[in-house]
Amino acid sequence: MSVADLPKIELHMHIEGAMPPAFARGLAQEKKIDISGIFAGDGSYRYRDFRDFLRVYEAATQVLQTPQDYYRLTRAVLEESAASNVVYTESFLAPDFCGGGDVTAWRDYLGAIEQAAAEMEREAGIVMRAIPTAVRHFGPEQAKRTARCAQETAGRFVTGFGMGGDEAMGRQGDFAYAFDMAREAGLRLTSHAGEWGGPESVREAIRDLRVARIGHGVRAIEDPALVEEIAEAGIVLEVCPGSNVALGVCRSLARHPIADLRRRGVKVTVSTDDPPFFHSTMRREFNDLSEVFGWEAGDFDALNETALEAAFCDDATREAVA
Ligand code: ADE
Ligand code: ZN
Repeated sequence: MSVADLPKIELHMHIEGAMPPAFARGLAQEKKIDISGIFAGDGSYRYRDFRDFLRVYEAATQVLQTPQDYYRLTRAVLEESAASNVVYTESFLAPDFCGGGDVTAWRDYLGAIEQAAAEMEREAGIVMRAIPTAVRHFGPEQAKRTARCAQETAGRFVTGFGMGGDEAMGRQGDFAYAFDMAREAGLRLTSHAGEWGGPESVREAIRDLRVARIGHGVRAIEDPALVEEIAEAGIVLEVCPGSNVALGVCRSLARHPIADLRRRGVKVTVSTDDPPFFHSTMRREFNDLSEVFGWEAGDFDALNETALEAAFCDDATREAVA
């Protein structure tokens, strides 16, 4: 059996970012929205750099206008994940795109997403948990609205709270209030840091937001003392190698720090982030890591074990998935 066939645990995937381009085109046609400018000639998403990626990403989300659209999206995304033999996935959902941060609207969107997830669990055996996520460049006030949405729906399906978006906007600590709200609601926390920001951004996420996991975190490698701290504290990195290479955080997979971080005792996991944007799947991530770093089944088993331990779910779910 090839390592690409192994069962997989994924902790970092944005539902909007996982929207297949053909799905986006189909919805755009139904709704008579012109988003043709965001596609390349071969039909894939086209962007120049990270800022442009965010613009294209947000343009694509315009086609997602109703809970039913998210129901269909969730089914399509989980079907793709299941085809990579992902058995457990945590998906970032942005209430900003699901009703603009209004709690009543968010409940409707979330209900549709949860229904699709329950169906896919029955049909394809994939378990999904949801992490409402603030979009950093929408600012701290909007992040509080997102945290309110998360608070109001915390439970078996909504188990965490996170933040993505443009890491160059403000500091992690500017969002501490939103993260405090989520923590008080019993939600587990993660923030994108050390993708575009340097080691200081990772330090701030740990210190000011008190997160258990970091989205990406790979630029921690620039500061050996920080790497040691992260390893000792057991902070888990949601590493997305294909994303980092496609967006230019790393020049190539061979130069990616994941293997080095792992050697130094950091708890690393592997995810896709926004798979169609990066021509990635979990199957491809595993395959590429095994080719470039020589990782074998035992290495991937260990990776999966780390991910399952760090998953934002209850122990009964963890045991059912294992
Ligand atoms: N939102 C979706 N993908 C992202 C990424 N790679 N970095 C920050 N925000 C994101
Ligand atoms: Zn991400």
